[in-house]
Amino acid sequence: MQWLETTALAEWVLTSLVGYPLVLTLHSVGMAIIVGLVMVVDLRLIGRFERIPLTALQSLLRLAWYGFAVNLTTGVMIFTSQAVFYSTSPTFLLKMLMVIGGVAIAAYMQPILRREAVGWGETGGVPPRIRTLATVSLAMWSMTIITGRFTAYL
Ligand code: HEM
Repeated sequence: MQWLETTALAEWVLTSLVGYPLVLTLHSVGMAIIVGLVMVVDLRLIGRFERIPLTALQSLLRLAWYGFAVNLTTGVMIFTSQAVFYSTSPTFLLKMLMVIGGVAIAAYMQPILRREAVGWGETGGVPPRIRTLATVSLAMWSMTIITGRFTAYL
């Protein structure tokens, strides 16, 4: 971690005029894409927004991965700038746990949505296990934002 902080990338993020503001701004854009889209998918799966066809959800999820790619890239860049602090910050580590959990649920859901969503429309609804997963996903992404924001303060 100490070595990471000595890299040219960490130096650029920390000292250049545009480094940190630009990367953190892109991190917020990425967050809006992944969390915004995943929350629409989860809310539809738990019964909100019934006019959104269930078969449309997998294409929303496909778009969300672009947001994740942006946040993984920008997150690693910010991380290098204070790697020792972040790697020992309980708030940041909890956030990483929430990100891993949220991503795992999205990755698990994607093939199921592709295969089964068409049937759910005909047979009266989303299976209870999928609704439970969607609820857990909503909580995890909400916690990701809260712990992401509080990292700098706690
Ligand atoms: C994929 C979903 C992610 C979301 C929704 C997310 C969300 C956030 C939020 C809300 C903040 C606070 C932004 C602010 O201060 O204005 C933040 C900051 C940060 N994130 Fe993420 N993040 C994600 C992924 C990652 C990843 C994968 C990493 C690292 C590998 C990471 C590293 C960081 C760091 C280092 C900060 C700065 C904390 C600080 O000092 O303020 N994030 N993130």
